[in-house]
Amino acid sequence: MTTLFLMVGLPGAGKTTRARQLAGEHGALRLTPDDWMLPLFGEAEPDGKRDVLEGRMLWLALEAVKLGTDVVVDFGCWSRDERSAIRWLVEAEDACFRMIYLPVDEETQRARIAHRWATAARETFPMTETDILRGRAHFEEPDTAELAGRAAAGPPSGGWREWAADRWPSFA
Ligand SMILES: Nc1ncnc2c1ncn2[C@@H]1O[C@H](COP(=O)(O)OP(=O)(O)OP(=O)(O)O)[C@@H](O)[C@H]1O
Ligand SMILES: [Mg+2]
Repeated sequence: MTTLFLMVGLPGAGKTTRARQLAGEHGALRLTPDDWMLPLFGEAEPDGKRDVLEGRMLWLALEAVKLGTDVVVDFGCWSRDERSAIRWLVEAEDACFRMIYLPVDEETQRARIAHRWATAARETFPMTETDILRGRAHFEEPDTAELAGRAAAGPPSGGWREWAADRWPSFA
């Protein structure tokens, strides 16, 4: 069954590293926004452009799934609603949704971010102390139901497709 893998975790958790492995193992298309942000815009967060990029990537991910190609979506996905929306969209295509959650404690996270900056500065962005603390405060950790593969929440009133088009402006 065609599978969409969704990487979930904080910066430095190891998502892209694991996403590369999964893509190799499954012959999957890996969609990592950071690989595109720098070449396209030269910076990590030009006003709202990441959301626009992610919307088209999500659209592309679903096109690939429809063609029978496995996909690894390497967005981070801090929000439970984002994960619920993507799960719903994937299952609506009769494909398999697999969330890959990589928890990371604060000390390990700092060490990995420092390691990456030291070894692969060209592929990454500087990350401040504020970025790390803000991430840890805002990240919605998947609960046991979500980890067990059950939808975390029912669809919002307009449905997940409409929610996704609102969250990622270029999705629809
Ligand atoms: N399991 C691991 N053990 C030790 N080091 C790791 C592991 N996974 C990744 N790393 C290292 O940690 C650093 C961060 O990994 P990676 O870039 O995969 O994180 P990420 O979750 O994609 O971060 P971001 O959200 O910022 O893109 C890299 O230098 C990588 O080599
Ligand atoms: Mg990454």
